[in-house]
Amino acid sequence: MAKTRTRWVCQNCGRTTPRYMGRCPGCGEWNTMVETVESSDQPKRGPSAPLRSQPRRLPEIETEGLDRYPVAMEELARVLGGGLVPGSVTLVGGDPGIGKSTLLLQASALLAQSTGHPVLYVSGEESARQIRMRADRLDITNEDLFVVTETDLEAIHHHTEEIKPHVMIIDSIQTVTCDDLSSSAGSISQVRHAATQFRGWAKSSGVAIFLVGHVTKKGSIAGPKTLEHIVDTVLYLEGERFHAYRLLRSVKNRFGATSEVGVFEMRERGLVEVPNPSEMFLAERMVNAPGSAIAVTMEGTRPLLVEIQALASHSTFGHPRRTANGVDYNRLLLISAVLSRRVGLRIFEQDVFASVVGGLQVQEPAADLAVAVAIASSVRDQPVAADMAVIGEVGLSGEVRTVSQTPSRLREAARLGFKRCLLPRSLRGTDELPTDGMTIIPVRSVAQAVEKALV
Ligand SMILES: Nc1ncnc2c1ncn2[C@@H]1O[C@H](COP(=O)(O)OP(=O)(O)OP(=O)(O)O)[C@@H](O)[C@H]1O
Ligand SMILES: [Mg+2]
Repeated sequence: MAKTRTRWVCQNCGRTTPRYMGRCPGCGEWNTMVETVESSDQPKRGPSAPLRSQPRRLPEIETEGLDRYPVAMEELARVLGGGLVPGSVTLVGGDPGIGKSTLLLQASALLAQSTGHPVLYVSGEESARQIRMRADRLDITNEDLFVVTETDLEAIHHHTEEIKPHVMIIDSIQTVTCDDLSSSAGSISQVRHAATQFRGWAKSSGVAIFLVGHVTKKGSIAGPKTLEHIVDTVLYLEGERFHAYRLLRSVKNRFGATSEVGVFEMRERGLVEVPNPSEMFLAERMVNAPGSAIAVTMEGTRPLLVEIQALASHSTFGHPRRTANGVDYNRLLLISAVLSRRVGLRIFEQDVFASVVGGLQVQEPAADLAVAVAIASSVRDQPVAADMAVIGEVGLSGEVRTVSQTPSRLREAARLGFKRCLLPRSLRGTDELPTDGMTIIPVRSVAQAVEKALV
């Protein structure tokens, strides 16, 4: 008879305790401890058992067949670091209904085509017919794309042995269960066990695996943070409920740069790549309207032009409000304080709203100066010059600070037809910056920037 014992496992951080606790001693979360039964008769390897690992000299390790699979979807390839690495495990997280299954179904068809080898799509959430319906909508037909509805780990392994796919999709990791474990599907022990198994297969057989992961209310991938350690690459598919664009962001990548971003648009025919996102975000811009300024932010290594809008209106209460949408609230408070103390704008009796058009989240301080200029433009009711982009971080003394990657920002602004750019005046000067026909207007302070920007 196998000896079993009961353990309580935190569903948030994975901490185990021998008895129930209302609050996890590891992460401090409440009501996260779940009872799990562990069987203790794990087969122990005796000293005479053959070893499976063997140290080898570094140059003797062969790398053939390890070329990346080309992904005929430029935005996805970029986020993966230039293609899909054989034997890699990629976790794709995102809110419900954001388009994870759509993205991966499209990617599997493209990969089946480009590799010429089978791709296995395992779904634990939808029936094969539902997937077929989606494929019809996305106009996908491919002989090498296999679809199966399965949640049992053993059965999935069996199918893998049979079909020998080069790429495999598990939609989603939370639905996969292993009969050896008594805990329910989606629990931390199941998810961790399944992910470890998949990693093992990937490393031994060279199949590249995508795992879909659900996201919790707090925005992290449901279940364990440990899942992110198990896999090679973590991608998040993000978007706004009311906007059609989707951002695919890499937060961890063992084979490429992190914080790379791919931009897509959700259409009826699936996710369509947006090669020029700046154009999309500026498409509805009203030229010469007060309260609008163009910021140049960086998403990973890619510059992105976004419109910052601000509105200042007389406050009817004694306590003026600040409302931020897409810009960081605390930075908005800081910028408002700088505008009132260092520029002399009377916004202490005005409500100030600032938002990023298109529902994008801009976290970068490099957009500070654009926010400041947009607010000043609204307060003074004077528009910002239509052909001007604004780059710079704002400091507490009202000074404008240099930001990173200025050359790529300038090139993108020039490419989109901007003729002038406000830029922090740095000690190094602006001589070696690529202007591409743009006039650079160096500014030292927010006050100076406001004078130069408004017409
Ligand atoms: N006919 C359609 N036209 C346009 N968009 C559609 C259509 N059908 C579905 N969609 C889009 O696809 C989204 C659902 O995509 P998908 O099922 O890939 O999401 P998911 O992230 O896998 O969701 P879940 O977490 O439920 O598995 C919908 O939210 C919708 O935006
Ligand atoms: Mg899905």
